[in-house]
Amino acid sequence: MPITARDLRRFKAEGRRFAMLTSYDVLLARAFEVAGIPLILVGDSLGVFVLGQETTLAVTMDNVIHHCRAVRAGLVEALLVADLPFGAYQASLEEGVRNGIRLLKEGGAAVVKLEGPEFALVDKLTAKGVPVMAHLGLTPQSFHQLGGNRVQARSEDAVTGLVANARRLEEAGACALVLEGIPNEAARRVTDVLEIPTIGIGAGPHCDGQVLVGPEMLGMSNGAAPRFAKRYAELFGTIVAAATQFAADVEQARYPDKEHSYDWPIR
Ligand code: KIV
Repeated sequence: MPITARDLRRFKAEGRRFAMLTSYDVLLARAFEVAGIPLILVGDSLGVFVLGQETTLAVTMDNVIHHCRAVRAGLVEALLVADLPFGAYQASLEEGVRNGIRLLKEGGAAVVKLEGPEFALVDKLTAKGVPVMAHLGLTPQSFHQLGGNRVQARSEDAVTGLVANARRLEEAGACALVLEGIPNEAARRVTDVLEIPTIGIGAGPHCDGQVLVGPEMLGMSNGAAPRFAKRYAELFGTIVAAATQFAADVEQARYPDKEHSYDWPIR
């Protein structure tokens, strides 16, 4: 049975912890679903991990829709969540609603994710039939305002504000809340007061779910990673070794051999 946004509250009520991974293409999406990952996110991190940009700020609606379609093609049951990128909802509520609807209609997403305490937009989107996953703490679209990707909720006051915002997002209709880059204790306090699940990234062990960037947890990226980004494989090295072997086989006429070519006459 396909997982729906409504199932997320039930997961929490049943004490079921769950994983989410980002994917931007059909191959990883398929592999993650086969592995039993119930939620797949087409994050605006695609700007960094696919398009080679420094931050997520330049990602467009068309970028997200393009990759969302590819991911959709790889999924049968997993819940497909897609990010509203920077600029898609900051100018007006109307534009945010229009773009949220585009992610469902054109991208094939089932839930849209958006950053910040956007209570009115969450309320409007859910009222129009667009399920919303909220995102608080370190919100990379506020890179310039936050002065970089720094851990948030560093004081008692900040944690109190975070808890209040989380409550209001739940009241506005959010189906889940991503908590990024905050201390464990702050995530615990938010998780304890909500009926919707929290999904942590760099937010410690007390969240109901955890999300990682797919290519990062597979070790496909070669650059520096934040400390929470555990690598479950080292694919960058595997890919380099395979490509090196291919080049050597071509240069030394070992490839293609009899097994990998068509004899004449064809049988
Ligand atoms: O874009 C993204 O990958 C995200 C995750 C870090 C939650 O928003």
